[in-house]
Amino acid sequence: MIRANRRTIAWWIVVALGWLVALYALATAALGAKVYPPDLRDAFLARPWAITSHAFFGAIAMLIGPWQFRRGPGWNRRRHRWVGRGYLVACLLSGVAGLFMAFYSFGGLVTHLGFGLLAIGLLTTTGAAYWSIRAKRVAEHRAWMIRSYALIFAAVTLRIELPVLTATLQGFEPAYRIIAWLCWVPNLLAAEWYLRSAATRPSDPLPEAR
Ligand code: HEM
Repeated sequence: MIRANRRTIAWWIVVALGWLVALYALATAALGAKVYPPDLRDAFLARPWAITSHAFFGAIAMLIGPWQFRRGPGWNRRRHRWVGRGYLVACLLSGVAGLFMAFYSFGGLVTHLGFGLLAIGLLTTTGAAYWSIRAKRVAEHRAWMIRSYALIFAAVTLRIELPVLTATLQGFEPAYRIIAWLCWVPNLLAAEWYLRSAATRPSDPLPEAR
């Protein structure tokens, strides 16, 4: 009971942080240059369609992803399937645009590699989640979805860590180089740790749609 409550509280914290960053990303997609961070502005202005599609579809994936882990009234397999397809397409479009933008990211080779591997990780884990459910391997599908969302959540961890590290190192550029890795590697490790600790308690199955 206490464990279930703790899980629900953790889920709502993830949702709330995700909503804040998704709103910011939607504002970026809608308002464009007016809200681009000064250090990234020129690169975004050179490829506005890339940042707009990346931020828009990233926000969609961020908003709908957590509901796929939800169990309870109103959730059934049909809804899970449709929301899942939306998540898949949003990850694919945001990930491809993110991969493209990684080549032009601020900070040089270290950030190109950091963000580039993040994009490849997102596309791989989300693709693996899709193929495993096509093969009806439910436990494997759930594990890949947890990894996929842990990577999407890099957009939240980045925005928590960046101001702290910029202040600590007294500069945006050195902080950004570290953040290109720090925003996602610990998320993936946390997901692995969670999957190992949760391996003996599978989630409840979803009911069929009536
Ligand atoms: C998980 C895979 C992701 C990758 C590989 C990725 C990659 C990138 C890259 C390379 C940039 C440009 C950085 C630069 O030019 O220096 C960027 C910026 C941005 N991304 Fe992502 N991103 C990801 C997830 C997301 C998600 C899920 C969202 C939305 C919730 C998002 C929203 C944004 C926004 C709004 C910016 C503009 C920069 C800013 O205003 O802070 N990203 N991303």
